[in-house]
Amino acid sequence: MSDRNRRTGSGTGSRVLNARTVAGDVLVDVCCRRRSLAAALPFHLARLREDERALAQELSYGVLRWYPRLQGIVERLLKRPLKSRDCDIQCLLLLGLYQLIYMRIPPHAAVSETVNVVKRSDKSWLQGMVNGVLRNFLRRQNALLEAVDRHEAGRYAHPQWIIARLKSAWPDEWRNILHANNQRPPMILRVNGRRQTRTEYLARLAGVGYSARPFLHNSVGVILDRPVDTALLPGFARGAVSVQDGAAQLAAELLDAQAGHRVLDACAAPGGKACHIFERQPALGELLAVEIDGERLERVRENARRTAAQLTLIQGDAAAPAAWWDGQPFDRILLDAPCSASGVIRRNPDIKILRQCDDIGALIRLQSSLLQALWPLLKTGGMLLYATCSVFPEENAMQVDNFLASQQDARTVPLMGEWGRDMAAGRQILPGEDEMDGFYYACIRKG
Ligand SMILES: C[S@@+](CC[C@H](N)C(=O)[O-])C[C@H]1O[C@@H](n2cnc3c(N)ncnc32)[C@H](O)[C@@H]1O
Repeated sequence: MSDRNRRTGSGTGSRVLNARTVAGDVLVDVCCRRRSLAAALPFHLARLREDERALAQELSYGVLRWYPRLQGIVERLLKRPLKSRDCDIQCLLLLGLYQLIYMRIPPHAAVSETVNVVKRSDKSWLQGMVNGVLRNFLRRQNALLEAVDRHEAGRYAHPQWIIARLKSAWPDEWRNILHANNQRPPMILRVNGRRQTRTEYLARLAGVGYSARPFLHNSVGVILDRPVDTALLPGFARGAVSVQDGAAQLAAELLDAQAGHRVLDACAAPGGKACHIFERQPALGELLAVEIDGERLERVRENARRTAAQLTLIQGDAAAPAAWWDGQPFDRILLDAPCSASGVIRRNPDIKILRQCDDIGALIRLQSSLLQALWPLLKTGGMLLYATCSVFPEENAMQVDNFLASQQDARTVPLMGEWGRDMAAGRQILPGEDEMDGFYYACIRKG
């Protein structure tokens, strides 16, 4: 281990901080403490030298992306399962296997670097076991991969419950969806039209050596050929651009908020769509951003400050508007509802571990109660845009169908644009289509 690596005295004694130790810590947070990757990764990367961060990130994402397959291999390699208190060692086994199967690292280096992490941890006595398991894998890898791939969870690297739901919802598409979920997503920017045109920003990018192309379905999206640290993007800190998937960028256009309109973004954090709504139409009467989670509301505040979007922020429960609504109806409501996030697994592979089948029923009930609670806040003639980043019909077209059946004054209107596929109600984008995340939209008009 080179001297340039930092040491830490916290937690498990004096440890060398390098990409593998830090990736191990991220995995322990996600797999053992059930913390989200979005929360764990920035925290741990900040402890690491800058030039090691890309590797730590690649290892963390990679292991989570392939977790169900890697886990299947570990189970076949261990004589008996590790105790739950050794979940950290399990994570290091997954880390070792990921490097051996998916990365172009010489096998002996992948094994010895992973064993070194164990050696320098407070469970150094397990280094022999980890070394033995990884070497055993190298000896038997063809047979092991064949065995794990005989099961769908291993072959497609998804929990069986997600595979089963996708099969039943998308009998012709489920394999494509699973494949798309396992790809690295592109980094997509939204150009702030108040500052410059897309053509101008593409030229700025080219000027600093970043190649990029226009996103197909609007006039402000830019797809980078390679991910770039936001700090290096021209004008990022002053709000010239934001990072946002192409599918999410469709919301502002669909909402079609006009000058003077009173607009509600009912589930606003981290604020990507709210800021976009403002960028598209700065002359709104008011744009109210409601978010239940105080910490996440701070993310909306930061994004609004960076992009100079004028939002009124409220921490509140969108399902209980009596506590925060002043009684003035809205011309437009965006309900970007909490959902399974089954359309954004490629960006959030921790969903494979953290989301459980049993969560879906509660999410469907929450979405329904949000729709019912927000409908009275909409003006007659106004429009509510319902959105999710899910590919499960129960959260999408079926949810909207049930809502329409419960309201005499609600009807869907056709969606603009040539993307996705029309459903009984609304339109669905499947992950990877035109480089977008999986998303669902329905425009519901009142009266
Ligand atoms: C899909 S995210 C919204 C993303 C956001 N529209 C954007 O584009 O940046 C859903 C958000 O709803 C919030 N949320 C969940 N239940 C809520 C409730 N009852 N009232 C308000 N916000 C809620 C979650 O904390 C989460 O931040």
